[in-house]
Amino acid sequence: SSPGLMRPPLLEWYSRVHATRGMPWRKPFDPSLDADARAQRAYEVWISEIMLQQTQVATVIPYYNRWMESFPTIKDLAASDIDTVNSMWKGLGYYSRAARLLAAAKKVVEELDGRLPDNAKDMETLIPGVGRYTAGAICSIAFNEQVPVLDGNVSRLISRFLAIHAPPKSKASLDLLWKGAQAIVEGATCAGDVNQALIELGSTVCKPLKPDCGSCPLRPWCRARQISEKEEVENGDIE
Ligand code: ADE
Repeated sequence: SSPGLMRPPLLEWYSRVHATRGMPWRKPFDPSLDADARAQRAYEVWISEIMLQQTQVATVIPYYNRWMESFPTIKDLAASDIDTVNSMWKGLGYYSRAARLLAAAKKVVEELDGRLPDNAKDMETLIPGVGRYTAGAICSIAFNEQVPVLDGNVSRLISRFLAIHAPPKSKASLDLLWKGAQAIVEGATCAGDVNQALIELGSTVCKPLKPDCGSCPLRPWCRARQISEKEEVENGDIE
């Protein structure tokens, strides 16, 4: 069915939950921002996404706030050094992430005029440590680019949504999953919100063991749900 139909309930759900979660990097896309201000938003989202890679939201929030006080812009970060950066990272773990941020910031200042790229393709190619997921997250949120995100949580959600049975890490599944994520964000007027809604829904509702289908805004379109309801009817579990 048309993704255009399910976006309104998805976004309505997201606007209800995300307002209560207080993530400082979550700001609505503002089309009136100029290129410098958008690049600054990309810097903020980049830092948050790298911190969130192996660490939970609640842990990341104070680290993110302290980081932004110490390195308000990518130029401040580039002018710092590895010991200072590591001290800001202390307790987050996986210190290679911090070293990569510093190296990438230096590259951006030296080679890219101090601005992160303004599209996912360049972001993924030019910024060390940024893969397809992170490029999609940054560029959909900071630039409203209609590019997909697919992390572990979104993968599980879309596997269920499309009832993909192949192993989730196979090439065939990954192609289908990225295409599914692309179809949901394509044509969205607020791509960053759609992607963050999927990330949020995948991590809080479409959980690995006991998905909370009763509160899922995508339930009417979910293939896995339709199949299991049909089986319940055939087995006489429900009328
Ligand atoms: N995990 C990764 N990216 C996130 C985001 N933008 N919001 C919440 N959790 C996330």
